[in-house]
Amino acid sequence: MLDLTGKNALVTGIANNRSIAWGIAQQLHKAGANLGITYLPDDKGKLEKKVAELVEPLQPSLFVPCDVQNDEQVEAAFATVREKWGRLDVLIHCLAFANRDDLSGNFSDVSREGFNLALDVSAYSLVQLCRAAKPLMTEGGSVVTLTYLGGVRVVPNYNVMGIAKAALEMNVRYLAAELGPQNIRVNAISAGPIRTLASSAVGGILDMIHHVEEVAPLRRTVTQTEVGNAAAFLCSDLSTGITGQVLYVDAGYEIMGM
Ligand SMILES: NC(=O)c1ccc[n+]([C@@H]2O[C@H](COP(=O)([O-])OP(=O)(O)OC[C@H]3O[C@@H](n4cnc5c(N)ncnc54)[C@H](O)[C@@H]3O)[C@@H](O)[C@H]2O)c1
Repeated sequence: MLDLTGKNALVTGIANNRSIAWGIAQQLHKAGANLGITYLPDDKGKLEKKVAELVEPLQPSLFVPCDVQNDEQVEAAFATVREKWGRLDVLIHCLAFANRDDLSGNFSDVSREGFNLALDVSAYSLVQLCRAAKPLMTEGGSVVTLTYLGGVRVVPNYNVMGIAKAALEMNVRYLAAELGPQNIRVNAISAGPIRTLASSAVGGILDMIHHVEEVAPLRRTVTQTEVGNAAAFLCSDLSTGITGQVLYVDAGYEIMGM
């Protein structure tokens, strides 16, 4: 029943084979989706090459740069979607950024600049990408973003990213309310801690993972594939009644009080 054949899915946030977005892209591909991949360009084109090689087996029909801090690049990426596909069905927002210094120590030390940067890349970008996707989702659509428990409760060192995730989760609700009449659904997956490039910047990430392995009902943390499966569900017709929600894919950790 989980069939994404004929759906055009744009996936952001693949940096390497540990990326959650990579787990999602693989599962969307397995379900039959036609993939478009965006990457964060760098001066030497290293990431472009790396991501292009990684995603090649999934045969994406679109591969475009998209730095969410660069408005022209975002516009160009969606112009390419319009030209090549005409219609967009699925948007995966799987990106975040904060200065490493702001992901440890005292939260109150965060600078205005560091605060704005984290909120801009990690939260505002969902609004920006949904605005660009809206006119292309002519037959309805599904948007999925990635959040973490640190946006709801205090998690040591998560600091400014917790504020960004709180904003992101509220963005999900406002966007779901606005876009619902167009049959565009917007949901978030709150993933348990996974070792990735981004999470390695959070102080004590390994301790966080070990804690989850001891306390979570399933006595482990989750994999990129498990998050990918949940994303595929949220993008499919199996979830047409679900919007504005935060789905915990965290081996049950969120329910525990101690
Ligand atoms: N790893 C975890 O434990 C975990 C848990 C819950 C939620 N998340 C969330 O999952 C998402 C993906 O992170 P990940 O853990 O897979 O790490 P990752 O490092 O693999 O992915 C982060 C991505 O963000 C992209 N990015 C950063 N700045 C950008 C910009 N300006 N424009 C466009 N892209 C930009 C990077 O290129 C990278 O692909 C993030 O939102 C993260 O907060 C991660």
